[in-house]
Amino acid sequence: MNKNIPWVIKYRPRRVSDVVNQDQAKEKFIPWLRQWLQNRVPEKKAALFYGPAGVGKTSLVEAAAHEYGLELIEMNASDFRRKEDIERIAKIAATQMSLFGKRKIILLDEVDGISGSADKGGLDAILELIKVTRHPIVMTANDPWDQKLRPLRDASLMIPFNRLSERYVVQVLKRICAAEKLECEDAALKYIAQRSEGDLRSAINDLQAIAEGYGRVTLDIVKAVVVSRDRQYSPWEMLRNLFMSKYAWQAKRAVTHTDLDYDTVLQWINENIPNQYTDPEDVWRAYESLSRADIYLGRIKRSLSWDLLSYVFDLAGPGVALARKKSKFRWAKYSFPQKIMLLAKTKEMREIREALAETISKRIHASKSTVKRDVIPFLMIIFRERPDYAARIAIGYNLTDNMIKYLAGPTYSKIKEHMNLLLLRMEKPALASEESSSGAKESVTARAAPSPSSKKKATRRASRRRRRGGTQSTLPI
Ligand SMILES: Nc1ncnc2c1ncn2[C@@H]1O[C@H](COP(=O)(O)OP(=O)(O)O)[C@@H](O)[C@H]1O
Ligand SMILES: [Mg+2]
Repeated sequence: MNKNIPWVIKYRPRRVSDVVNQDQAKEKFIPWLRQWLQNRVPEKKAALFYGPAGVGKTSLVEAAAHEYGLELIEMNASDFRRKEDIERIAKIAATQMSLFGKRKIILLDEVDGISGSADKGGLDAILELIKVTRHPIVMTANDPWDQKLRPLRDASLMIPFNRLSERYVVQVLKRICAAEKLECEDAALKYIAQRSEGDLRSAINDLQAIAEGYGRVTLDIVKAVVVSRDRQYSPWEMLRNLFMSKYAWQAKRAVTHTDLDYDTVLQWINENIPNQYTDPEDVWRAYESLSRADIYLGRIKRSLSWDLLSYVFDLAGPGVALARKKSKFRWAKYSFPQKIMLLAKTKEMREIREALAETISKRIHASKSTVKRDVIPFLMIIFRERPDYAARIAIGYNLTDNMIKYLAGPTYSKIKEHMNLLLLRMEKPALASEESSSGAKESVTARAAPSPSSKKKATRRASRRRRRGGTQSTLPI
């Protein structure tokens, strides 16, 4: 079996009995369906499955179709604005099956997807469909209580679905662990189940992500990785939801339900399009759309026309998700955007450079920009070519380790060695001048012009050592 197939698909219920914890729904649905199969058209020709996400609404229709040998005609209700789609479905619905032909069941998935944006035409089309159909129609919805959906509710047998209880979620997860020969701690599965809040789809997705990321599922790992549902999506979830979405609105939801900033969202998608799509044309289409999103975002930022933001989301979400025409659905590993890592690194670099310019500009009475332009490049050469001399400058200007690293690159450790030697030598003359009052000795201090604070530091260190008893640890000059 294909390794990359999402487990929610691989383990979707094949028989009605595989759909767990929805006995009440089945008790309403199955007798209604049997009536159809016995050629007695029920009073309500459509059934409306409603309830939270990931509890088996779509699965029950698919499992029943499979078990009773029905041909499943599936459609997302929000596509109901496309005339040819309506006509296609309406034709199927209105046609009595041939004597030996397969019976059919029509699934209009997620009808509440149309309530927000769609024109009334879509709803009317569905109502008309229910009137003329000669086959059972099942609709699903998370929230069927929108005023606009009232006519649909009236025309349907309403079948509620409940959140799955933790026990059943754990049971399904356990079955998957066994089938995958995966090492899973009971406590870990329980934790995933709790966090999923009865949404089995998300629980299974969490399980797969952890299994593939870590090879086993322990409580420690799960606690570190799984966070509760009420928060916004992490970048990885955002990508997963985006690339797995079947419908435009799901893809849009994926990119809008995350607290990443817009640039970051685009970068994550940018980096991972080739991880997800295998077909070059899909990749090309996705990048076409994403680059348009980027152009819009640029315009928004320049002109502050935030009303364009919705197009950015449309292009980066549905535009990218629906670019998939040939690549198969697969479980891809997503990677962290290189650009963000790079920027994080260069941001640090920029800060160091800024601080360095500040330190030096004060000492040599030049502007920071002059230092950046004229001094730092020379210092870099010195630091890379002459570690001994660089050490004096570093001490003299009291540079921090980060600044030295910035200037020196690979010669950093050599410079540090020289600095240590010099600092030890500085202590000795300081000592000598205090003790013999000769003061005329040549010292590095004179040559390297250390800052007052580093001089003080050296003196302090020297006197500390003296108190500890002796100068024997200093190196001979
Ligand atoms: N009651 C259930 N019994 C068994 N599996 C389920 C159940 N509910 C959800 N699942 C699993 O979660 C996935 C998503 O379920 P789905 O039926 O699409 O949820 P919904 O349509 O309610 O949002 C399915 O593929 C299946 O693997
Ligand atoms: Mg569904």
